Amino acid sequence: MYRGLIEAYRDRLPVTDKTPVVTLHEGNTPLVPAPALSSRTGADVYLKVEGANPTGSFKDRGMTMAVSKAVEEGAKAIICASTGNTSASAAAYAARAGITCAVLVPQGKIALGKLAQALVHGAKLLQVNGNFDDCLALASKLSQDFPVSLVNSVNIFRLHGQKTAAFEIVEALGDAPDIHCLPVGNAGNISAYWMGYQEDEEAGNSSRLPRMFGFQAAGAAPIVTGKVVEEPSTIATAIRIGNPASWTKALDARDSSGGLINAVTDREILTAYRLLAREVGVFVELGSAASVAGLLQQAAEGRIPAGATVVCTVTGHGLKDPEWAISTAPSPTTIQNDVLIAARELGLA
Ligand code: F0G
Repeated sequence: MYRGLIEAYRDRLPVTDKTPVVTLHEGNTPLVPAPALSSRTGADVYLKVEGANPTGSFKDRGMTMAVSKAVEEGAKAIICASTGNTSASAAAYAARAGITCAVLVPQGKIALGKLAQALVHGAKLLQVNGNFDDCLALASKLSQDFPVSLVNSVNIFRLHGQKTAAFEIVEALGDAPDIHCLPVGNAGNISAYWMGYQEDEEAGNSSRLPRMFGFQAAGAAPIVTGKVVEEPSTIATAIRIGNPASWTKALDARDSSGGLINAVTDREILTAYRLLAREVGVFVELGSAASVAGLLQQAAEGRIPAGATVVCTVTGHGLKDPEWAISTAPSPTTIQNDVLIAARELGLA
């Protein structure tokens, strides 16, 4: 039986026999071929579907590690800043561990499903009159001054948990892909994948390293412009971040891998979001579609070699943000309970 990523990769993670494993059996997510993307790009494209994790995002990989280590160190409470997914995950793992969870989110800027998750799992949630970067500064200060353990991705255990996605991809493909595309927000995940791919190559599990392609939303693209964005803005609230904590690590992933970090517009994100739902059959949240938007952008510019193996991580489930999904889809028609009317409405008669 699969028992979560700490058991699956125990010898490659900073845990001991004494670490109490707090798990919801996260990880082991599907790597799904995406023929609609392959035909558009001339590459062999796969999606790493992280929405299949227990709370619907990749954050669970980091959280099983961060919460297990926090409990090992005697913590009775954890805290995080979040654009939504980290708080949902932290709340669930804290509930599982029987400890308190505090979360700070930017007021009015997190998707409804994520808010629901944090509340249902019993987190103490504060909506801050500020953006994610303000929330993170506040959470860091609280964790320094009070007995509460910070579980944002500045917590190195988070990155160790998240690197296991790269291990799974290498196992599934038999080697590392040529190119790996990711959305970039606080920049922890691209750093974690790069760590995972490097460790796999050093261990001889893969024969090469992928080029890391990261994509920020154009209105929140500090790494692309080289400047902190004071007022980040994008429809992709998950990656609405102006001053990423893992900025330097992301630059290293980009430069050591011969990759790139580019901006994608909200329009490009939306196009990828729709294409994924309607032609690939995978419902992701807007922030997640940035990886695919980036791939399509790079392919249009001729930067994806024909036949290259490309993996795009889609980081979170589309159900996280039902309000957005419904507002952009065609409205349903209401009819009488009548077969002829139904047939006509469906274009069958
Ligand atoms: N995709 C989704 C769905 C996310 O929620 C996030 C980050 C990212 C991509 C970017 O990952 O920060 O490691 O570069 N969400 C964080 C949160 C900030 O609070 O849930 P990153």
